[in-house]
Amino acid sequence: MNEKLYILGPQSVKGTIEVSGAKNSVLPIMCASLLSEQIVELSNVPNLNDVSILRGLINEIGRPSEKFEENIYFSEKTSNYNIVVSEDANKIRYSVLLLGALLATNKEVILPLPGGCSFSARPIDIHLEGLKQLGAEIIEEGNYIKATAKELVGADITLRFPSVGATENLIIASAKASGKTILRNIAIEPEIIDLIDFLNSLGAKIKFIGSQTLEIMGVKKLGEKKVNHRIISDRIEAGTYLFLGALAAENYIDIENFEIQYNISLLKVAQKIGIEFKILSSNKIRVYKSNVLKAVEVETGVYPELATDLQPLLAVLLTQASGISKIIDPIYPSRFQYANELNSMGTDIDFIDSGIKIRGGSKLSATKDVYSYDLRGGAALILAALIAEGESEITNVYQIYRGYSNLDMKLKGLGVSLDRDISGEERSYHELSTK
Ligand code: EPU
Repeated sequence: MNEKLYILGPQSVKGTIEVSGAKNSVLPIMCASLLSEQIVELSNVPNLNDVSILRGLINEIGRPSEKFEENIYFSEKTSNYNIVVSEDANKIRYSVLLLGALLATNKEVILPLPGGCSFSARPIDIHLEGLKQLGAEIIEEGNYIKATAKELVGADITLRFPSVGATENLIIASAKASGKTILRNIAIEPEIIDLIDFLNSLGAKIKFIGSQTLEIMGVKKLGEKKVNHRIISDRIEAGTYLFLGALAAENYIDIENFEIQYNISLLKVAQKIGIEFKILSSNKIRVYKSNVLKAVEVETGVYPELATDLQPLLAVLLTQASGISKIIDPIYPSRFQYANELNSMGTDIDFIDSGIKIRGGSKLSATKDVYSYDLRGGAALILAALIAEGESEITNVYQIYRGYSNLDMKLKGLGVSLDRDISGEERSYHELSTK
């Protein structure tokens, strides 16, 4: 389906916007919920397609759940899970975490290869290598992965790179393995800490024994009592609204559920650029429209460095700065397709090795057909459309709604006028202007 979004710019924003629960936290925690014997209640769950798809997969595996507003309730475990995960697994990236979860609970799993944002080749060798070290036998057959393990046995594993997903898969798999697992060179994103906190609330024995090293003592049964867990708020959504305010606030906007503690590197970059903000509390920030933005050179990195997911959004901001900026993304060196779309709106961006060079001070004008290649690149186009002159038509916006909970409603709450068309049909400008 080719959903489209129409935005007539420029528009200014005012009021208060709230950040939802983190996509990259709720998905791993939903997979880890399979390890629990009893009821699991998750709160602050974002309203996202990826969450619905994963819930569907988990239902079919044999763990039913209900969703009510921002809560998911997984019922207690009453039977063994199915070993075959349905085809929908290839629609989302984090179905890959069902490997670790089902190896822990079933000892066997057949999983269609995961999908998700297609901004780059996204290998899963670190996941598979670690699971093999825990005793799993893994065969890749066509578009499927078949993994079996008579028993998962604790091991001393060093990740060759601190991959977020691989760290999560190995934490989930080793939580019930027999004996002790040491995971070295792990990623330490706040979403990973949230997963560890959740598993520990189920009775897992996971602790840090170094800044990037975990010790996990396997536990036979987890979640023998009902647990409630609140998902942390989304850092990338927070950053998106910070940049939105700096670009388009009438005067300022307030952002609620903006967890200051998880966003330090973002705020440091914001300060360097000259964005004016006021921290109102530990989870609320006010960001002012910035009339003078300074060019910067930044590099993304693993947490606590600047998140790769923020770079497309930052790029839009830097098109309005004075001077030449550079963004280098060593995590995903080819995650820049969106820059061509921005250039079609009047920006001046060149591709360089693993990054882009942005000549600031561009005046943007709307383009009828800009394409949302992936979630964050698509969100960047929304920021651009809001400051561009004229009516932008963003296509393939399905990608954006994978990661931004209730986005239309939230933007409308800031006074934005936009029009989403899910029919995928062409419309004439006459029709548009009368909407
Ligand atoms: N990598 C490998 N082999 C692996 C795993 C990763 O070579 O087995 C490489 C990747 O190719 C990449 C780097 O390691 O160059 C980092 O990948 P990582 O595994 O850390 O990323 P991920 O777990 O697949 C999560 C987020 C991404 C986010 C990255 C980096 C999801 C659900 N979660 O992905 O979020 O960009 O960490 O922080 O995709 C998003 O929310 O828009 C998003 C794409």
